[in-house]
Amino acid sequence: MSAQDLFSADLLSPSVQAELPKGYRLRALRPEDYELGFLDCLRVLTTVGDISKEEFDKRYQWLAKQDGTYFILVIEDTNTSPSSIVGTGALIVERKFIHDLGKVGHIEDIAVAKDQQGKKLGLRIIQALDFIAKETGCYKTILDCSEHNEGFYVKCGFKRAGLEMAHYH
Ligand code: ACO
Repeated sequence: MSAQDLFSADLLSPSVQAELPKGYRLRALRPEDYELGFLDCLRVLTTVGDISKEEFDKRYQWLAKQDGTYFILVIEDTNTSPSSIVGTGALIVERKFIHDLGKVGHIEDIAVAKDQQGKKLGLRIIQALDFIAKETGCYKTILDCSEHNEGFYVKCGFKRAGLEMAHYH
């Protein structure tokens, strides 16, 4: 584990790593991922904005201080030089009072670079986040997605439950 990893390498699923294509590595987010295309990877998902390295580092340091709450992982393709971030996903662990101080995992911001889609990287990211959710004691993991992506999450083992509502500010 690098001193700069957002979370412990003990929370990375060995079986997911073993299933990745040759030269692809599952790991926690690091500050250096700014230079390796982490934000470009997220741009396949939505608008990211023009974030400077300083702003990125400030957000990273804040996330790193929220002990046991933010788990952002990446898949790095080390076959290229420099290597590049080809996939990412996040798990946020919410602490509740209900269900005996239960914890719920929230899956957010899943993105696989356009030219890397269809190689099961998205599936591996979800499996890796599920592993973290179980290891951190979450009794369930939930996510919101568009109708377009429902089939993907069904293939990852999720099922439709409830209805999302939003209030934009
Ligand atoms: N609808 C139906 N099935 C799908 C879809 C889809 N949109 N996308 C993938 N699948 C299927 C695949 O065909 C595959 O099926 P198979 O096992 O029968 O072969 C299975 O799901 C696994 O697919 P992967 O290869 O792992 O998918 P990929 O690596 O391309 O990642 C993802 C899927 C993450 C949706 C990717 O297309 C992407 O980054 N899209 C743009 C960003 C996005 O929409 N992210 C999700 C937002 S929701 C959220 O973040 C909670």
